[in-house]
Amino acid sequence: MARESWTGRIGFVLAAAGSAVGLGNLWRFPWMTAENGGSAFLLVYLGIVLAVGVPGLLAEFVIGRRSQKSPVGALRDLSGSRNWGHVGLLSVVAGLVLLSFYSVVGGWILRYLVASPTGAYFDNPGAYFGAISFGPTAAAFHVLFLALTAGVVYGGVRDGIERATTVMMPIVFLALIGLSVWVSGLSGASEAYTFYLSFDLDAIQASFLDIVLAAAGQALFTLSVGAGTMITYASYVAEDRSLPADATLVAVLNTAVGVLAGLVVFPLLFSTPGADVETSGPGALFVGVARAFSELPVGRLAAFGFFAVVALAALSSSISMLEIVVAYLVDERDRSRQEAVVGVGAVVLVTGTASAFTPELFEALAGPVVDFVLTTGLFAFVVFAAWVLGGDAIDEFVRGTQFSSGLADAWRLLVGVVIPPFLAFTLLVGVFELLGVTLPSWQLGL
Ligand code: PHE
Ligand code: NA
Repeated sequence: MARESWTGRIGFVLAAAGSAVGLGNLWRFPWMTAENGGSAFLLVYLGIVLAVGVPGLLAEFVIGRRSQKSPVGALRDLSGSRNWGHVGLLSVVAGLVLLSFYSVVGGWILRYLVASPTGAYFDNPGAYFGAISFGPTAAAFHVLFLALTAGVVYGGVRDGIERATTVMMPIVFLALIGLSVWVSGLSGASEAYTFYLSFDLDAIQASFLDIVLAAAGQALFTLSVGAGTMITYASYVAEDRSLPADATLVAVLNTAVGVLAGLVVFPLLFSTPGADVETSGPGALFVGVARAFSELPVGRLAAFGFFAVVALAALSSSISMLEIVVAYLVDERDRSRQEAVVGVGAVVLVTGTASAFTPELFEALAGPVVDFVLTTGLFAFVVFAAWVLGGDAIDEFVRGTQFSSGLADAWRLLVGVVIPPFLAFTLLVGVFELLGVTLPSWQLGL
């Protein structure tokens, strides 16, 4: 059977943007920004997105389109070495780690979605979240979220992933714009914008090193780089077109949604007098935003709309996580897509249920473990692109573009010489912090 492919550019870009835009933007980003000094964090984060994230994303695109394989086969075939294939297995691990906590959060969102029409969490948002976040309810809704994810991936690249994401992404963009306009009229909105966007050096609580570390982790997570998702998606690109342009577009869309998310979430949080805006961790989106909706006119409807948008964004990311592992089984293990989806689904059913019952496991996976896996993965991919693919990477970079190889050479220098030491540095600092003293709070947040 011929390899599956996207119908065209829009399908690929929206699927990749769908992967990027997710809980990282709607939840992790606004809070990381708030906790790490507002716009100071924003600047460092944007710098790392530009200097590390986008070139890294391009490295994955180049590897994927060049090989027409998912990560294990891609690294093995392009290098002619089985050892590189083993390195590619890191992406399989990444997919499983990601799904094991992400689908628990996806489950929380579905729980809030179905609870919104009746306002079930309005009376006591804190207690409600406490009751459903870990335990049987969390496990049940994780299974539901996983089933929705599996249902999309089951349908295939075109009829499942592409069809779903091309419907979902425009809805997410438009709904967020609509919500941001609506909340701009709430009392407390201007206070919220000040809190979110002011460049307040005094408010920087974390050290600069912590900010860099947090910003680096967030930059990789939000762009979905380091997991092999983008290698896998680019392997379904059948034609020549500009990969640098597509990577830029994905990064721009992702950043825009991140900024929009803050413009929605913060005014909501500031609309309730006395709400604790400094609250962080898994509860803040659910407790703080839920409390805001409980006091607003048409709060139930608005809450339903809000959680529906978050659910769509989360789903378009989780399908990209599942697809990494499914593509591996299809490419390398001769499984049918359907068998693979059922098999991986069964595994995540178990691992996700474990994290839905164990807050410590959940927080480890969602924080330090995923940061470590993505950083290590991206390190391998950029080194591979620059030093193993080398000239072929340059060819692939310029294929379908108007560029001469000058820009491609600069990119290769960046991914080959500048980015690996930076990633190695953040890995080291992260390991020291883990072994050393206290775990910084950003690692425990989502
Ligand atoms: N980028 C996604 C988000 O922001 C998360 C993700 C990470 C998806 C890695 C796939 C791979 O929510
Ligand atoms: Na993102």
